[in-house]
Amino acid sequence: MTRVFDEDLATGFGTRAIHAGQRPEPLAGAIMTPVYLTSTYVQEGLGRNKGYEYSRGTNPTREAFERNVAALENGTHGFAFSSGMGCLDSIMKLFRAGDHIVCGENVYGGTFRLFDKILQHMGLSFSYVDTRDPQRIADAMTPATRAIIVETPSNPLMRLTDIAAAAEIAHRRDALLVVDNTFASPYFQQPLDLGADIVFHSTTKYLNGHSDMVGGCAVVRDDDLAERLKFIHNAAGAVAGPFDAWLALRGTKTLHLRMRQHDINGREIAKWLANRVGPENVYYIGLPTHPQHELAKRQMSGFGGMISVEMGTRERAAHVLEHVRIFALAESLGGVESLISQPAGMTHASVPPERRAAMGLSDGLIRLSCGVEDTPDLLGDLDQAFEGLPQVKADRAPARSRRDTISAAGA
Ligand SMILES: Cc1ncc(COP(=O)(O)O)c(C=O)c1O
Repeated sequence: MTRVFDEDLATGFGTRAIHAGQRPEPLAGAIMTPVYLTSTYVQEGLGRNKGYEYSRGTNPTREAFERNVAALENGTHGFAFSSGMGCLDSIMKLFRAGDHIVCGENVYGGTFRLFDKILQHMGLSFSYVDTRDPQRIADAMTPATRAIIVETPSNPLMRLTDIAAAAEIAHRRDALLVVDNTFASPYFQQPLDLGADIVFHSTTKYLNGHSDMVGGCAVVRDDDLAERLKFIHNAAGAVAGPFDAWLALRGTKTLHLRMRQHDINGREIAKWLANRVGPENVYYIGLPTHPQHELAKRQMSGFGGMISVEMGTRERAAHVLEHVRIFALAESLGGVESLISQPAGMTHASVPPERRAAMGLSDGLIRLSCGVEDTPDLLGDLDQAFEGLPQVKADRAPARSRRDTISAAGA
């Protein structure tokens, strides 16, 4: 009898992470999904094939990964792409010239660049709003609005959007809610359960988790939406290659284990940083002082390993970035190794300086992606990197307390 994975028995996230979407390979029974490195498939006769014709359309390795991520997000259809940006670009092909999109003001710099430098010139219009406050989302909706796009937690200011409230606003107007779940991962947050229509990831980050590939994945529940995305996936062709899909599938098997350690390290390091520079300068959703900590507890089951810190000046930020010895100065996040960066000059350099300033993303802000190393080693590394930190001048006090406050409605 062929052993097949019984979805009904796999109620736990970890069991699904390891098994969902995968079947024993039929030739030899290999327990691991093979990498189907093929562009095409031999057909048995005219119009007769095994369900595979050409790898842009379907590839067994990619499909296993897509089924796996769909299961982790409690969705039914997954689509794996060549990058997170390729994924978002394909999602945006659901819309047409004249459509209006409400987007969170604090999103990954590349997301803003795609909208502002490319899609805007193709007839889509965008309103960027502080989506911490659902009222501001509602106020930005117009008769032409087709989607609300949010990143929660946001990169790098760790701002949250109330997903259920945003879904309600979107659906009242027949618009879609699209959630970038890259920072939380499905282990800590499942946007489809909260009413989102499309959840997507840069799988480059936590889902793969080992900083050795670039990819994206979108998941939906609705069959019609799935049909439209499937068409775009094949027609536009920004699909994940089989080897990248295989690497990411290998990554998701340990997602639950990695996320627990990212979370432990995130909590401990945020506490240490709060003691060192003051809680008002540490952007970590797990700190009770974070203005949206209660919302984080409500819609997430953990806080993860992403922390941003307002160091006050670029000079102080540079001091830390240039003195760390375990944390590595690099873009990206979500890998097993700890990374540190300065968003204004790196991941968000494509956001105009005045826009960065308006949302409180200063040159003194640093972002930490806490990996899964031993907590005392990471704390020791930061301790030595903070030695000899230049003093903040009184007139250059850290900015968060001035900008990062929200109304009660947004909390
Ligand atoms: C939150 C978020 N979304 C999307 C992306 C884009 O993903 P990729 O780099 O895989 O294209 C990134 C990249 O850093 C990101 O941080």
